[in-house]
Amino acid sequence: MSQLKLASRLDPIKPSITLAVTAKAAKLKAAGVDVISFGAGEPDFDTPSHIKEAVREALGRPEGGFGKYTDVGGILPLRKAIAAELGAVHKVALDPDQVLVSTGAKHSLYNLFMALLDPGDEVLIPAPYWVSYPDMVMLAEGRPVTLPTRADDDFAVTAAQVRAACTARTRAIVLNNPSNPTGAVYTRAQIEALAAVVLEKDLLVISDDIYRQLVYGDAAYVSIASINPEVGKRTILVDGVSKTYAMTGWRIGYTAGPLPLIKAMAKIQGQSTSNPTHVSQVATLAALTGPQACVAEMRQAFDERRVAMVKLLRAIPGVSCREPKGAFYAFPDVSAYVGKKSPDGKLLADDVQLCDWLVEAGKVAVVPGSGFGAPGFVRLSYACSMQNIEAGVGRLADALAQLS
Ligand SMILES: Cc1ncc(COP(=O)(O)O)c(C=O)c1O
Repeated sequence: MSQLKLASRLDPIKPSITLAVTAKAAKLKAAGVDVISFGAGEPDFDTPSHIKEAVREALGRPEGGFGKYTDVGGILPLRKAIAAELGAVHKVALDPDQVLVSTGAKHSLYNLFMALLDPGDEVLIPAPYWVSYPDMVMLAEGRPVTLPTRADDDFAVTAAQVRAACTARTRAIVLNNPSNPTGAVYTRAQIEALAAVVLEKDLLVISDDIYRQLVYGDAAYVSIASINPEVGKRTILVDGVSKTYAMTGWRIGYTAGPLPLIKAMAKIQGQSTSNPTHVSQVATLAALTGPQACVAEMRQAFDERRVAMVKLLRAIPGVSCREPKGAFYAFPDVSAYVGKKSPDGKLLADDVQLCDWLVEAGKVAVVPGSGFGAPGFVRLSYACSMQNIEAGVGRLADALAQLS
């Protein structure tokens, strides 16, 4: 066979850098190397026991059926529960038919861009951004337009930036609040200013709220959809249970929005994956309708780790770190160390090379900011034990101190 030709639509697509860092750390660990990884974007807690118990109970029911297909968009009781919860949080009226359950919020977003974009349609993406947005937009043949934000502005995109970036092809803005990777949480005033420009420029908002329940200190989550009914109508809500309920591996996310869009997304899902895993839907129903104390307990633990990690990072000479107010990531500026040499004379010319060296020589895995559109920064997840935070940031400090 001559050389295998792959689809050219993949040409601009990069593999997910967070998955790559996590995989590299896991491989080293499997080879017996003691690596501390801050790479993974997932809680270290196990899925709460009442959620697992609900699945066990369902599987034990004599009528069975949990190994069967469901409606493409998810079982009705789950869509009802999602419509009720998101309707209350975002102050919008949602019918269960306006909800599509998918195989993780990543899948929700993929379906969404595929259903929404014509070739050349533009999507505004504030940077630093979650690694997958630009690539998903490109897979759908859209054009990602990144809007750089500054650490000094707490990484918030401004209404003026959005206004200036709009063209006749602009369809939507992605608002990830709280943000992965920065942990930034938008204030009410910032959300109101963005809501005004959304109406002025006739945009859709893709509101990725996967971390909305993980907000700390005096910060508060403000839903852009709740600002007024007109904005509510043009907001597409993307949410899920991965981060809030420590359910990353169950793979359930969901979208709520205008009925024609949800139907279009269901058409794509129906011709690709069909329904998300049936037992995972049962687990999600239990998560949303069961006791919520587990969420508060995990949030409290993340908050303590957040405070500890930021303090340790700020103590490293040359490193600065804004206070992350949500999600579970710290996003320090390590640009003072980019361009330095390792003790064996290797030039670490950018943050990717720096992170490669850190995992190999320093035995600590962090994700390079370049993957998030923010060269010179690194992302550390603090969804890990306090022991790992203390030892791992210690390793980071020791490794950086060796560079000259
Ligand atoms: C901002 C953001 N959106 C969406 C997702 C997708 O989450 P999942 O597919 O696990 O539901 C993630 C996961 O890392 C994320 O950080």
